Amino acid sequence: MDGIIDGKLDYITICSITQLFKEKALLCGQWSSEARLTGKTVIITGANTGIGKETAVDLAKRGGRIIIACRDMGKADSARAEIVERSGNPDVVIRGLDLSDSKSIREFAQIINREEHQLHALINNAGVMMCPYAKTADGFEMQFGVNHLGHFLLTFLLLELLRRSAPSRIINLSSMAHAWGRIQLEDVHSERSYHPRRAYGQSKLANILSTRALARRLQDSGVTVYAVHPGIVRTEIKRHMNLALLISWKVVRPFTKTIQQGAQTTIYCTVEPDIQSGGYYCDCKLSSCTRAARDDVMAEKLWELSCQMLGITWE
Ligand SMILES: NC(=O)c1ccc[n+]([C@@H]2O[C@H](COP(=O)([O-])OP(=O)(O)OC[C@H]3O[C@@H](n4cnc5c(N)ncnc54)[C@H](OP(=O)(O)O)[C@@H]3O)[C@@H](O)[C@H]2O)c1
Repeated sequence: MDGIIDGKLDYITICSITQLFKEKALLCGQWSSEARLTGKTVIITGANTGIGKETAVDLAKRGGRIIIACRDMGKADSARAEIVERSGNPDVVIRGLDLSDSKSIREFAQIINREEHQLHALINNAGVMMCPYAKTADGFEMQFGVNHLGHFLLTFLLLELLRRSAPSRIINLSSMAHAWGRIQLEDVHSERSYHPRRAYGQSKLANILSTRALARRLQDSGVTVYAVHPGIVRTEIKRHMNLALLISWKVVRPFTKTIQQGAQTTIYCTVEPDIQSGGYYCDCKLSSCTRAARDDVMAEKLWELSCQMLGITWE
């Protein structure tokens, strides 16, 4: 869509449009499963709205204990009430988490590690798209900081609990927009030049690369990791789009997914048995990502850089 705005129909725009038509064609092939989550605990970040909230409703219906990790307690209260009402499951808990502040992430993890005896799924769903240039409390570019670094730190801090609860899973919400970006090792926080679409693409590419790098580290541990593209979904994610992009969004709207359809691949990766760890999933099946997203040398460089920036040791 940005390609049209820039005055040229570029390769990425064509790929995006093709993908939209492909997704529309696949919408009829809905996936379903009777899998239960009784006795299982799931954390979903950014579950006060959109795909995260819809995922919470479905997983709560399956009988799980659902922890919704949100930064806005007012919105989280209303979301909890709706999740409980729609699922009939009262075991839905709110915990405060702001992924743009490592202090908040550490406090959240401390509470979870102290109060929860087990954790079977960590769904790293929260995200921010194409916002104006801003920095997190730790001085990271906002999209890279929240979408990648915030979830990377959260996963690191909860990994021991996930290991003790194995079999357990980590689901990272990425996007087909990973094709818009590259990992700018020399200017990862876009301090020299900032392009909202490319920075979003970089953060979503980082989600896939870190999924692959983590899956390698967790081989044979009983903890599996998945990256998800949910589709083009009618949520609040477009809140930072400019007028021109919003008009483009209206044009493609008939080809987009409802929030319920958009939650299906996350739910699939949470409950479907025997699926390939480290994979990129779309429309409830293993899918192909770009060559940059399969670059395991870059994945390791990004891993090292992320650890350095967060001040953690994670071999
Ligand atoms: N919708 C799509 O078409 C699409 C396509 C591809 C990938 N995705 C990915 O899917 C995921 C869910 O997106 P969505 O479409 O459901 O978007 P959404 O409706 O905008 O929901 C995003 C959620 O993330 C939370 N969030 C944002 N910044 C946060 C922070 N600093 N700390 C904690 N929570 C924060 C938001 O909380 P507040 O309400 O407090 O802001 C909200 O709950 C994202 O990772 C997105 O990149 C979406």
